[in-house]
Amino acid sequence: MSVLPSSVESSTAAPSLQFPTGFVWGAATASFQVEGSTAADGRTDSIWDEFCRRPGAVVNGDCGEPGADHYRRYAQDVELMSSLGLGAYRFSVAWPRVRPSGGSLNEAGLDFYERLVDTLLAAGIQPWATLYHWDLPQALEEQGGWTSRDTAYRFADYVTSVVERLGDRVAGWMTLNEPWCAAFLGYASGRHAPGVTSPTATVAAVHHLLLGHGLAMERLRAGTSAPAGITLNLFPVRAQSASAEDTEAARRVDALQNRIFLDPVLRGGYPADVLQDLAPYGLPQLIQDGDPEIIGAPVDLLGVNYYRALLVAAPEPGTEHDGSPSEWIGAEGVRFLESGSPRTSMGWEVQPEGLTELLVHLHSAYPRVPLYVTENGAAYPDEMTPSETVLDHDRIAFLDGHLRAAHAAIEHGVDLRGYFYWSLLDNLEWAEGYSKRFGLVHVDFETQRRIVKESGRWYADVISRNGLPAE
Ligand code: FCB
Repeated sequence: MSVLPSSVESSTAAPSLQFPTGFVWGAATASFQVEGSTAADGRTDSIWDEFCRRPGAVVNGDCGEPGADHYRRYAQDVELMSSLGLGAYRFSVAWPRVRPSGGSLNEAGLDFYERLVDTLLAAGIQPWATLYHWDLPQALEEQGGWTSRDTAYRFADYVTSVVERLGDRVAGWMTLNEPWCAAFLGYASGRHAPGVTSPTATVAAVHHLLLGHGLAMERLRAGTSAPAGITLNLFPVRAQSASAEDTEAARRVDALQNRIFLDPVLRGGYPADVLQDLAPYGLPQLIQDGDPEIIGAPVDLLGVNYYRALLVAAPEPGTEHDGSPSEWIGAEGVRFLESGSPRTSMGWEVQPEGLTELLVHLHSAYPRVPLYVTENGAAYPDEMTPSETVLDHDRIAFLDGHLRAAHAAIEHGVDLRGYFYWSLLDNLEWAEGYSKRFGLVHVDFETQRRIVKESGRWYADVISRNGLPAE
């Protein structure tokens, strides 16, 4: 089955661009968002299964069923990947399948990932595995979740189980996906599972997630020679003005969003301002002897998830934080402004130039480590035509703009080695449920029928050229 179009459209009057030989072209998913089969083969609840049951937590009361039924349809999905010419597939491993309730090893859960990996390899597609994409076993949450230091050690044991089985076949490993979301959405604003709203719990979760990353890296080193690292969601943070107040607002947001994770992993410790900002919430006391070395041990790659930039301004003078839960611990009143760019269905502004800015910044400000864009993508309404095509030109324009931005970073000398579109398939967009469609492939969640969108065809053409077409 070939999906390559006979004629290819591009949204901008820009020249054709070639990517470096060997550039990895991929697409990503995550276990809870696509798998379904939430009770199959010994899997137990994750914090997301539990959170979805909470009235009002997820749009429409949506949950991990049916997902995109990937657990059962993975072979068909690998065929789809082949038809697109994908070089790599980034999936995540569900901890509650492999170690149900956080306890002992469940071989049947690992069997699924082994089938998936072997099917990918047979199709010539590199398997890239993320070890934690937010589906903590609910039983561990009941023992404190990421607020408990012990969870980091449980995570490491689960990682050992995975790497013992798959360490000889997975092409690239990511310990955590977006610990910012796991900690700040999960434990500060409570917009994500487990829905806790406590600044001190959040700060503990940050540190224990980072410790889990470091311990997982040790286990990966012992079990595989494949490259490994972490995936962070990073945002260029821009101040609305050069005033001292707006500059301070931008510093606080950059600290809480970016540097709180980048610096411990790549520079061996929390930045001084983060330690100071979060001292009232107990950060310094959480750091035990040896933790910075574990967390800061070398990584082989940094996964960058980029969706947009942030434009911030100081709180309105005279306003006080009303006490409602916020991700911005200690900086609750900071204002997030719109810059006027077009927006996706998520309400996120489309800012491809921010990707170049971010990659160039990482390259110049941090010790050199190969970079991969491990997520970038957009949700749009995706109307189906009577002839059953999805003419998602808005998504093609998004992709075109961001790939040109990635290419511009490479021209600036950035060691960018791959790009994974989010997502291969329409899926459960966390608290937004199934209402937001990010896929290159449309999924009818009632029939589970898949239809490659125009953007999927366009991306297939980019992959086949290893570059972008001119208009
Ligand atoms: C990221 C998540 C991913 C997906 C995209 C839209 O924050 O890692 O699972 O939901 O956003």
